[in-house]
Amino acid sequence: MSRFSRITGTGSYLPPRRLSNAELVAELAAKGVETSDDWIVERTGIRARHFAEADVGVSDLALHACRKAIEAAGCQAADIDLIIVATSTPDMVFPSSACILQNKLGVAGCPAFDVQAVCSGFVYALTLADALIKTGSASRALVVGAEVFSRILDFSDRTTCVLFGDGAGAVVLEASDVPGIWATDLHADGKHVDILCVPGHVSGGKASGSPLLTMDGQAVFKLAVGVLEDAARAVLAKAGKTEADVDWLIPHQANIRIMQSTAKKLKLSMDKVVVTVDQHGNTSAASIPLALDTAVRSGKIKKGDTLMLEGVGGGFTWGAVLLDY
Ligand code: UT7
Repeated sequence: MSRFSRITGTGSYLPPRRLSNAELVAELAAKGVETSDDWIVERTGIRARHFAEADVGVSDLALHACRKAIEAAGCQAADIDLIIVATSTPDMVFPSSACILQNKLGVAGCPAFDVQAVCSGFVYALTLADALIKTGSASRALVVGAEVFSRILDFSDRTTCVLFGDGAGAVVLEASDVPGIWATDLHADGKHVDILCVPGHVSGGKASGSPLLTMDGQAVFKLAVGVLEDAARAVLAKAGKTEADVDWLIPHQANIRIMQSTAKKLKLSMDKVVVTVDQHGNTSAASIPLALDTAVRSGKIKKGDTLMLEGVGGGFTWGAVLLDY
């Protein structure tokens, strides 16, 4: 009998501090940075984002999301035998946020590690967990995307600081006799390192270089719309399915225009696209599981629906996962 993996529970968490565009625009104006609600909405679709308090780390956001996912799956933290956290804003340089999260969940023993693929991180982490479950190395994985991008934003750069937010999403992925995950497709092209990066590093006991995010938005935009179409077609071909089989497209929530373009290329109506960028902003690795959990809990996504998850981000990295929920 074949062994597959299947999502049995989802959870998410947003830190309580919510900033509407109007509030962010006012805060930035006080610092002499000029932007507007109109510009942000028109160019990105973003209307609000959440920022974590200064003493809250990625593992704290992840913990809330994981507790909800574990509850939804009807299991206990002690039943989890693999923890993967996708993040680019870890609590520490090391150990991994996954190890810190494991301890906060009150469990020990199972493997726990972070995946660094920026905004594609959740799709990478889900692919790894699926592979480890299929080989029998794990049976019940906690797969998390969590970020505090507010920590690495340059609030004097209006081209980036209006785009991102903080949050966490998680799924419990369990071994199953039936899919579950039909197919996965991951890619990277390291020649594009410079178009989206935080170039600083720790050296000689101090941060060396800028610890803040820089992005060539137009270059990222152009690459994103191309690779998202490619990844979608690749994962459908691997699964022997077509666009018509997709009930819900859950793309990385970076920009509504990228999502519209992807949906158009795949001939999917926007009614089939889960959109949360308006309320969450771009939460990098957290954006897909946050969108998934929001759509599950609102009743949009139902058991048995076929979902296409798609990530794209710094690296450059991209990928897709096709699954039956
Ligand atoms: O999660 C990783 C993936 N990241 C992404 O997917 C981001 C992809 N890129 C984008 O989403 C878009 O490129 C942006 C939203 C970042 C920018 O939108 P755009 O339509 O490409 O704008 P632009 O960079 O061409 O800038 C247009 C104008 C410029 O002014 P001029 O040169 O035309 O006078 C900018 O200076 O908009 C100006 N501008 C702003 N104005 C008001 C840039 N940022 C702002 C701002 N408020 N916040």
